[in-house]
Amino acid sequence: MGAQQPGTRVLLAGATGLVGKHCLTRLLADDDISQVVALVRRPLEQTHPKLTVQVVDFDHLGDHVRAIEADAVLCCLGTTHRASGSPEAFAKVDHIYVAELARLALAQGVSRFVLVSTVGADPSSPVFYNRVKGRAEAAVSELPFKAVHLLRPSLLLGERPKPRPAEDWSKQLAPFWSLFAWGPFGHYRPVPAENVAAKMVELAKSDQEGVHIHYFKG
Ligand SMILES: NC(=O)c1ccc[n+]([C@@H]2O[C@H](COP(=O)([O-])OP(=O)(O)OC[C@H]3O[C@@H](n4cnc5c(N)ncnc54)[C@H](OP(=O)(O)O)[C@@H]3O)[C@@H](O)[C@H]2O)c1
Repeated sequence: MGAQQPGTRVLLAGATGLVGKHCLTRLLADDDISQVVALVRRPLEQTHPKLTVQVVDFDHLGDHVRAIEADAVLCCLGTTHRASGSPEAFAKVDHIYVAELARLALAQGVSRFVLVSTVGADPSSPVFYNRVKGRAEAAVSELPFKAVHLLRPSLLLGERPKPRPAEDWSKQLAPFWSLFAWGPFGHYRPVPAENVAAKMVELAKSDQEGVHIHYFKG
């Protein structure tokens, strides 16, 4: 990737998604970030001197990640049952791809892994979605990165190119939901995707070590 510049080098997965797009915009505007490699499955129109776009088949991530040097990974990958078509396909993206990316990144010398998970993530949850997210968190956390940051937002707020009926319905209720989500329930408040992205970029540059869980209160 050429001579190393001062600043943090970031590998971004999920750059075409709601959170990922905000991450990309922030990373490119941040003078402390020297390089961004975006792993995507379809080309990005965006160009920038700091940006390298790699169109990859996520079933063969190793072919691509082995050539990348980075300090931090920001992982915003995710799908839905509806988009993926089956629980297995959902788990492949939200757990298997995440775990494989983490394993390969560690082998490349990446020291920080920042993952968007979800409020309620728990590997033994009776709720399938939360269980898959919990398994992804566990897979990343057990690797010897210097730092792992697990972000656990509730419903994400922001404009999507395609409507998601279930989420749109929840968003209608967001103001009422926020009224009642206080105290120990504060982290169930809907959160702008932009706030999650801002936290991810901050953590990509952080020297804090260990495994950390981050909640949002709107
Ligand atoms: N939606 C919510 O309210 C909510 C709440 C809490 C947590 N979360 C979690 O937060 C994370 C980010 O959410 P988001 O709303 O920003 O996600 P999103 O908009 O759906 O974006 C997901 C990203 O993952 C990529 N992706 C999906 N399936 C893929 C596949 N088979 N192969 C390769 N890449 C694939 C997408 O690429 P393409 O653009 O090519 O599809 C996109 O870049 C997700 O893990 C989600 O579960 C979401």
